[in-house]
Amino acid sequence: MVGRILIIGACGQIGTELTLKLREIHGNDEVVASDIREGAKELMQSGPFEILNATDESRIKEVIEKHEIKEVYLMAAMLSATAEKAPMKAWDLNMDSLFHILNLGKEGKIEKIFWPSSIAVFGPTTPKDNTPQTTIMEPTTVYGISKQTGERWCEYFHRKFGVDVRSIRYPGIISYKTLPGGGTTDYAIEIFHEALKNSEYTSFLASDAALPMMYMDDAIKATIDIMEAPAENIKIRSSYNLGAISFTPEILAREIGKHIDNFKISYKPDFRQSIAESWPSSIDDSAAREDWGWKYEFDLEKMTKTMLKGVEDTLKENANK
Ligand SMILES: NC(=O)c1ccc[n+]([C@@H]2O[C@H](COP(=O)([O-])OP(=O)(O)OC[C@H]3O[C@@H](n4cnc5c(N)ncnc54)[C@H](O)[C@@H]3O)[C@@H](O)[C@H]2O)c1
Repeated sequence: MVGRILIIGACGQIGTELTLKLREIHGNDEVVASDIREGAKELMQSGPFEILNATDESRIKEVIEKHEIKEVYLMAAMLSATAEKAPMKAWDLNMDSLFHILNLGKEGKIEKIFWPSSIAVFGPTTPKDNTPQTTIMEPTTVYGISKQTGERWCEYFHRKFGVDVRSIRYPGIISYKTLPGGGTTDYAIEIFHEALKNSEYTSFLASDAALPMMYMDDAIKATIDIMEAPAENIKIRSSYNLGAISFTPEILAREIGKHIDNFKISYKPDFRQSIAESWPSSIDDSAAREDWGWKYEFDLEKMTKTMLKGVEDTLKENANK
């Protein structure tokens, strides 16, 4: 850590758990959470919180000065499925917020930046299996276009102005603490809730839609590891491929079926299926492994057991409220 930390978009699926982990590591007062809305009680009560719109440059500056922020994690964005419904809004949020933060880095007001990219930077012409770090990238979604453009700008600001910006291409992130925010891989979370509530699930992706996925704890570990690595180890300043597990709805359903006897899955693919078809099935993350020691811990079996336990506990807690 180079100074106090600001998380923008802290109330989202990843931001919530990232904030709590960073507070655990660095101390509650060192990590300021912010979002356009309030979030989970645990997040709101464990440390400083600011209402902040990521597209409002002067408000970002104000919060950064007030809390003497030196490190920013920019997690606010409009995700793949939601962005297809509001393309220009998605473009404005995803790009404006990034420019505001990169410019603060250029002006020397902050010293280190984390900005997440996504497997959505790839497209139908990209090699699908074990997708290389450097390859054809022709994204077809507005979300993917914004992430690919963002990657180019991150690299540019690093090369031209020495901005210390670090990024990873998250695969679909699976977790139970905070609900997902409108991505194409959300089925892999919904399925656990429905399996435990109703013993059945209708997937909005086809049975054989293989996608790269990762359990939340691994995603948080990767995020913190890349930020803590010495600057000279971060050789890629666009964004690193990051892999863990890869499965289809059918494979995941079979794994869940090992724990829930009568679990049934059916398939009713919608517009998200064509987004899934344009993305890789699995990812080559050897550059992240070599440069900053990336290694995942949660395989399909461990992730499934952890999710079933976590969702079950959450459902019980909610029922008792
Ligand atoms: N979750 C995934 O599977 C996944 C995969 C690849 C990449 N990512 C990337 O990781 C980042 C975080 O994703 P997430 O899943 O936590 O998303 P999310 O949708 O769950 O959370 C985003 C948060 O940003 C906030 N936000 C929206 N507009 C804002 C604004 N104008 N100002 C401030 N806050 C605003 C929302 O209120 C929300 O709390 C995003 O950049 C996303 O593209 C996520």
